[in-house]
Amino acid sequence: MHNSFSLNIAIFLSTYLTSTSWAANFDVFRYVNPLIGSNNGGNVFTGATLPYGMAKAVADVDGQNTGGFSTDGSRVTGFSAMHDSGTGGNPSLGNFPLFPQYCPEDDLNSCKFPIAARATHYINDSIVANPGYFALTLDSGIHAEMTVAQHTALFHFTFPDRRTSNGSALSPLVLLDLTDLWASRQNASISVDGSTGRIKGNGTFLPSFGAGSYVSHFCVDFSGATIRDSGVWVNNRAGVEPKELFVTRGFNLFYLESGGFVRFKGPISGNLSARVGISFISADKACQNAEDEIPGPEYDFSGIQNLAEIAWRQKLSPISVQTGGASEHLQTSFWSAVYRTMMSPQNYTGENPYWQSAEPYFDSFYCIWDSFRVQHPFLTIIDPVAQSQMVRALLDIYKHEGWLPDCRMSLCKGWTQGGSNADNVLTDAYVKNLTGIDWNLAYEAMVNDAENEPRDWSNEGRGGLVSWKRLHYIPYLDYDYLGYGTNSRSISRTLEYSYNDFCLSTLGKGLGKEYSKYLSRAGNWQNLFKADQKSYINGTDTGFTGFFQPKYLNETWGFQDPIACSPLAGFCSLTSNPSETFESSVWEYQFFVPHDVATLIKSLGGPESFISRLDYFHTSGLADIGNEPVFLTIFEYHYAGRPALSALRAHSYIPSSFNDTTTGLPGNDDSGAMGSFTAFVMMGLFPNPGQNVYFIISPFFEAVSVTHPETNKTATIKNLNFDNTYKNIYIQNATLNGKSYTKSWIGHEFFTQGMTLELTLGGTESSWGTAERDIPPSMSTGQMQYL
Ligand SMILES: *[C@@H]1O[C@H](CO)[C@@H](O)[C@H](O)[C@H]1NC(C)=O
Ligand SMILES: *[C@@H]1O[C@H](CO)[C@@H](O)[C@H](O)[C@H]1NC(C)=O
Ligand SMILES: *[C@@H]1O[C@H](CO)[C@@H](O)[C@H](O)[C@H]1NC(C)=O
Ligand SMILES: *[C@@H]1O[C@H](CO)[C@@H](O)[C@H](O)[C@H]1NC(C)=O
Ligand SMILES: *[C@@H]1O[C@H](CO)[C@@H](O)[C@H](O)[C@H]1NC(C)=O
Ligand SMILES: *[C@@H]1O[C@H](CO)[C@@H](O)[C@H](O)[C@H]1NC(C)=O
Ligand SMILES: *[C@@H]1O[C@H](CO)[C@@H](O)[C@H](O)[C@H]1NC(C)=O
Ligand SMILES: *[C@@H]1O[C@H](CO)[C@@H](O)[C@H](O)[C@H]1NC(C)=O
Ligand SMILES: *[C@@H]1O[C@H](CO)[C@@H](O)[C@H](O)[C@H]1NC(C)=O
Ligand SMILES: *[C@@H]1O[C@H](CO)[C@@H](O)[C@H](O)[C@H]1NC(C)=O
Ligand SMILES: *[C@@H]1O[C@H](CO)[C@@H](O)[C@H](O)[C@H]1NC(C)=O
Ligand SMILES: *[C@@H]1O[C@H](CO)[C@@H](O)[C@H](O)[C@H]1NC(C)=O
Repeated sequence: MHNSFSLNIAIFLSTYLTSTSWAANFDVFRYVNPLIGSNNGGNVFTGATLPYGMAKAVADVDGQNTGGFSTDGSRVTGFSAMHDSGTGGNPSLGNFPLFPQYCPEDDLNSCKFPIAARATHYINDSIVANPGYFALTLDSGIHAEMTVAQHTALFHFTFPDRRTSNGSALSPLVLLDLTDLWASRQNASISVDGSTGRIKGNGTFLPSFGAGSYVSHFCVDFSGATIRDSGVWVNNRAGVEPKELFVTRGFNLFYLESGGFVRFKGPISGNLSARVGISFISADKACQNAEDEIPGPEYDFSGIQNLAEIAWRQKLSPISVQTGGASEHLQTSFWSAVYRTMMSPQNYTGENPYWQSAEPYFDSFYCIWDSFRVQHPFLTIIDPVAQSQMVRALLDIYKHEGWLPDCRMSLCKGWTQGGSNADNVLTDAYVKNLTGIDWNLAYEAMVNDAENEPRDWSNEGRGGLVSWKRLHYIPYLDYDYLGYGTNSRSISRTLEYSYNDFCLSTLGKGLGKEYSKYLSRAGNWQNLFKADQKSYINGTDTGFTGFFQPKYLNETWGFQDPIACSPLAGFCSLTSNPSETFESSVWEYQFFVPHDVATLIKSLGGPESFISRLDYFHTSGLADIGNEPVFLTIFEYHYAGRPALSALRAHSYIPSSFNDTTTGLPGNDDSGAMGSFTAFVMMGLFPNPGQNVYFIISPFFEAVSVTHPETNKTATIKNLNFDNTYKNIYIQNATLNGKSYTKSWIGHEFFTQGMTLELTLGGTESSWGTAERDIPPSMSTGQMQYL
């Protein structure tokens, strides 16, 4: 079902000679499969979008539709123009879907209007998904293809010739449904222009993981056929009068299915085009966006598709790979993962109805708990201009709403999962010298997170700050009279707040502002370490002593089974079974001290014991590879002087848990978090976000280069003795710009200055990177860059 069905790709394949991106005829699109993660919970958006695009067009289904479409074989309910990618929970966006059909015997009221009635299977092998393009054929024989500009989707529908029983041609009908994927519509308006066929309107909807509501607007124009009639529909009845409709929620919040339609004179021999402009400002702005981006009266589908392809090629161009014979599967995993990192956050600059600003506005930070770890650091290396704009957008949100977001979608505040993790994103940008950012404002916003408790901390800031300042931990069953939020996650919030405060101290020190107070709070994690805590699985001692545990306000210990919330014991979500660790176990969170792994290792009994813990964690079923907190644990062997074991661990997960199949993601892609993990690991570097640190392992390719889009300096990491069966994954020695390099980590200067790191590989672990002085820095060892 992959893109090999597309004609241009097929032609390309026949002339394809070598699989090195350093070769002249390399076509990166051959290795981008947008269908990866479109089944079994990846929730990936598979349709047409520009990088960070607001318009995201795809077929919506009635199966796994969180990202709109799924290759789960379910039925198409419509074609809509806005989506989020890879998110969990309720489906997001999917507003105002169109649906093409024929009315049997040309009787308007024989058409299928409500979702359940109209849903139609797609033909499995008709799916074509490429960057900027998506197409499929319905069982009804109607074919749909789509491409996009920034705020406009362009659909082509082709209708097979169908006749009434007396032989006259049927009239194709396209309906618009005033709904979204989650059927969250509160009220909506629509008007249909009988002479032009233009359909305009708006609706109020709910964000899929947040508070409040949002209004979105649309403007649909058709071309390629003659209008026969038009009107509105309600439930399963339609009429050509009136041409306007307002719907709202009635008794018991009753949900009325309704919308508008246009019928065209059949038969239509070519494409019926539907141009869908979208806006958060007004319907007129939606029309304006459409006219500016895809002018009529004929819409240039190929031209728009071509522009989308150029945009994607340009975004993928900073990276080049010398494969060294790495399999096509791995190459596809890699490039598709890179592609997925640039779906979200979405660029809504100019579409923010709440405040006027010269700053960029990005939305769909969904959520920062997922994206701070790898996705934002990844964008920092391949698209620093975009990352800098995203940071500025976060700061502008702080300026106008009073708080940095922790999660945000569809212009609404999203639920906070743990700490105030935008702090980590800001500091990561700071230590990597991103430009154009008001660092004083960043400091102010982070101090606000650290010092002031919002009344409702369920969607911004932090809770429990009285205890945080007085007791230096978040108590189990805290007494919090300043604000309210889900009063759970005391362990994970303590660990995350510690790291947030560490990030604040880094920025404060760098700017010459107050920082020692926050540096001291960065050690608060130690207050929840219970040195004699053991962990049992079904009564059998795991053999490890010392775990984080909840602590009451009176400083006595509570208890949470260290394996609770792990894959062995069942998932813990924010709402269904809140616990003291968020979506993760004490076993997993015990490794979350990113700024002081040296002290953590001491607490856990020294390097040997730390390594056996990591090994046990990864091999016992306790590790949840399908969620973001696990990422860092794969590389923490570096801190115990065993970088070889991080490489071994990375290979134990790629490709077995991250691969190029439609079910090839172990969990939600989370706006590209899983994608960025895959891409970074395969490049042989991995960030510790908020610090100027990348862990080094051997890349999965012979060599990978990243050219800085602003300075044009190229950084290359290269394997000597590369072996595509991955027996030689252990670094024997290394050189940096030709000089011997023994540290197991490197700073961001590697990218900004365009260095060359050459690794000599072998089949067994060596002493490279194992010496005390070569271990990545920890707060307590005094080697941190800014502290
Ligand atoms: C289409 O694919 C789905 C999901 O793999 C499968 O369940 C269904 O049977 C397939 N349909 C046909 C007609 O092959
Ligand atoms: C064929 O049937 C349609 C409706 O089913 C009707 O409108 C049309 O007039 C009929 N045409 C002829 C030639 O009978
Ligand atoms: C539409 O719904 C929103 C959210 O419930 C409400 O604030 C607004 O007043 C409603 N608008 C109309 C015109 O009823
Ligand atoms: C939605 O459209 C109706 C009809 O044009 C209009 O009266 C209303 O003000 C619009 N609502 C918003 C929030 O723009
Ligand atoms: C529809 O448009 C596409 C893209 O421009 C084109 O390739 C195709 O030939 C058109 N189909 C018809 C039936 O005209
Ligand atoms: C976001 O959109 C604005 C307005 O169109 C544009 O100036 C800016 O370059 C875009 N940013 C990125 C990263 O594409
Ligand atoms: C501390 O508080 C907890 C919870 O209220 C209670 O179970 C425990 O007995 C208290 N400990 C002491 C020493 O008072
Ligand atoms: C614990 O034992 C029960 C009953 O034998 C079994 O179903 C379960 O899988 C075991 N759990 C673990 C984590 O081994
Ligand atoms: C691909 O990844 C999925 C999800 O992690 C996994 O279930 C599957 O076994 C993997 N397939 C292969 C061939 O490794
Ligand atoms: C980088 O390369 C581009 C394209 O070749 C060029 O336009 C730009 O001026 C270069 N920038 C620098 C800083 O050399
Ligand atoms: C690196 O290790 C390889 C294999 O052990 C060895 O041949 C080579 O001389 C070493 N190079 C340096 C610079 O130490
Ligand atoms: C950031 O800028 C400072 C001062 O110019 C420089 O010392 C440092 O190396 C730069 N860091 C990176 C990651 O480029």
